[in-house]
Amino acid sequence: MLHAVILAGGSGTRLWPESRAARPKQLLPIGGEKSLLRATVDRVLPLVPLDRIFVATSKDLAPAIAEELSFLPRTAILVEPAPRNTAPCLGLAAARLLREDPDAIMAVLPADHVVSPDEAFIQDLQTGVRLVMEDPRRLVTFGIPPTYPSPSFGYIERGEPLALPESSKLEEPVRTETAPQHRIFQARQFWEKPSRETAQKYLEAGTFYWNAGIFVWKAATLWQALEEYCPEVFQPLARIAAAADSPRFGEILESEFQQIKSISIDYAVMEKANNVVVIEATFRWDDVGGWRALERLLTVDERGNVADAPRVIFWDADGTIVHSRRDDHLIATLGVKDLVVVVTPDVTLVADKNREEDVRNLLKELERRG
Ligand code: GDD
Ligand code: MG
Repeated sequence: MLHAVILAGGSGTRLWPESRAARPKQLLPIGGEKSLLRATVDRVLPLVPLDRIFVATSKDLAPAIAEELSFLPRTAILVEPAPRNTAPCLGLAAARLLREDPDAIMAVLPADHVVSPDEAFIQDLQTGVRLVMEDPRRLVTFGIPPTYPSPSFGYIERGEPLALPESSKLEEPVRTETAPQHRIFQARQFWEKPSRETAQKYLEAGTFYWNAGIFVWKAATLWQALEEYCPEVFQPLARIAAAADSPRFGEILESEFQQIKSISIDYAVMEKANNVVVIEATFRWDDVGGWRALERLLTVDERGNVADAPRVIFWDADGTIVHSRRDDHLIATLGVKDLVVVVTPDVTLVADKNREEDVRNLLKELERRG
């Protein structure tokens, strides 16, 4: 059966000062009305019933997430005792699903992306499920045609094309009459976060996709892949799984997870695996990595300015992004170019928009200074 595991433990530091440790970007309504997390749950609901939706997050964020998704049972929130990135998190989720359903298929969905339209996303996800049902060893990824040489994404090199599996052989119903022409490939290689120079080469090659960070696989396949490719993560997880019925489970989970290696699934498994499949996404996708995402998601005026605030005046300004939620506060810009201005109740950020990646370093420096 298909289960959704929503990844909601990230910190979204490049969207500071709107995104904060206690309220990171997945809990914010960026470029829309609902929080990104809520939109992620709503998007997957046509395919996955509520009782098969899980949200993985950290101890610190769990209360805010439970409040945002109050319609989910408390047991749907999978809480990691310590932040150890996505490989330990997904391994723990796989172990949990395998206890109830040895055949469980996991759709892994980041909670902090903007995806549209929902229907295209659901169809692509269904294609992913069909590919896994056809060959349970597959690790299915979703590829976004790259538009610039970003060093912040994983890159998937496509190999041989694959045919869309016939739905008649599979138990999941698929509305083929509306299904788009899918472009599916066996992946040749997965490279996580290459240098800008390498990313430039990939862009020019025309055979690479950005990894959308969305995956479909059998929980059992992920579990085996962790065992094979990342024993440092697998061994503590296996001890946790073996203690599932123990009265000391909480204690064992806590102590094993503390010492687990912190590593993302991209480095731990995807770069090493040889059964990766990529579906070219038919949905629009943005990972809302930094403030320039607003240029892609909202209306840009004829001089390149974006007003994401109730009260803004651009006077002889160019390429400037303004964000605020305060309707008691006018933001006026005069004769400026390529700025990001973000006003929150206690912090105002004024930055060169071409340094959106550096916002996380600014935040580190502020933390260092106390
Ligand atoms: N539960 C949990 N625990 N979630 C986490 C943790 C954790 O320790 N760390 C990160 N996440 C969540 C984030 O909230 C996000 O939804 C997702 O997992 C991916 O983590 P990021 O930290 O945002 O990864 P990234 O953006 O650097 O890279 C990944 O996403 C890119 C696309 O946005 C990789 O998969 C890249 O290959 C990919 O291109
Ligand atoms: Mg990310």
